[in-house]
Amino acid sequence: MAANSGFKLKHLLIFACLIGVASAQLSTKFYDKTCPKAVKIITKAVDDAVSNETRMGASLLRLHFHDCFGCDASVLLDDTSNFTGEKNSFPNANSLRGFEVIDNIKSQLEESCPGVVSCADILAIAASESVGALGGQRWNVALGRRDSITASLSESNSDLPAPFLDLSGLITAFSNKGFTTEEMVTLSGPNK
Ligand SMILES: *[C@@H]1O[C@H](CO)[C@@H](O)[C@H](O)[C@H]1NC(C)=O
Ligand SMILES: *[C@@H]1O[C@H](CO)[C@@H](O)[C@H](O)[C@H]1NC(C)=O
Repeated sequence: MAANSGFKLKHLLIFACLIGVASAQLSTKFYDKTCPKAVKIITKAVDDAVSNETRMGASLLRLHFHDCFGCDASVLLDDTSNFTGEKNSFPNANSLRGFEVIDNIKSQLEESCPGVVSCADILAIAASESVGALGGQRWNVALGRRDSITASLSESNSDLPAPFLDLSGLITAFSNKGFTTEEMVTLSGPNK
């Protein structure tokens, strides 16, 4: 790919991520009419990425987790003059991986159904498909998340649970986001 088309693609992706989606109600059928192939496209790309490199399954799950103290794809946003993004927060810098897999999925979806599937939903489906690709249990992903047009370095630093948190710190970090202790344990398991 020529440097120039790479540049354009990147801007198309950022623009496409900003379009967001139209409803506030999450549903597993959200794209059934507007982009029926969405899940199939994501599944194929995740399967390819995981069979190329097994570790990518865990990386995509973690990318969703680190987006999901918000679940709005803000983790994907690069710094702009208006905000400093989350990519370089302590929990994310030099450890978040899989951005290129998400970019590849987004560009395929933009060809199939332009401006329809949010990046936040791509992250959510990719996480479930990653677990499935590694032989684990997929879950039903309710869809219709909207993409953020901003990001917060400070919230990423303060809200994401640090790897050295003790049990009560973990319980608090997750309960601040509405999770029970049991849900925290369930969510923490595959990330170790
Ligand atoms: C396959 O995985 C390697 C790392 O193991 C990576 O460098 C390469 O870009 C990947 N190729 C594709 C097509 O994803
Ligand atoms: C920064 O915010 C202003 C005002 O909302 C907006 O017009 C401008 O496009 C933004 N710049 C970037 C790089 O997002």
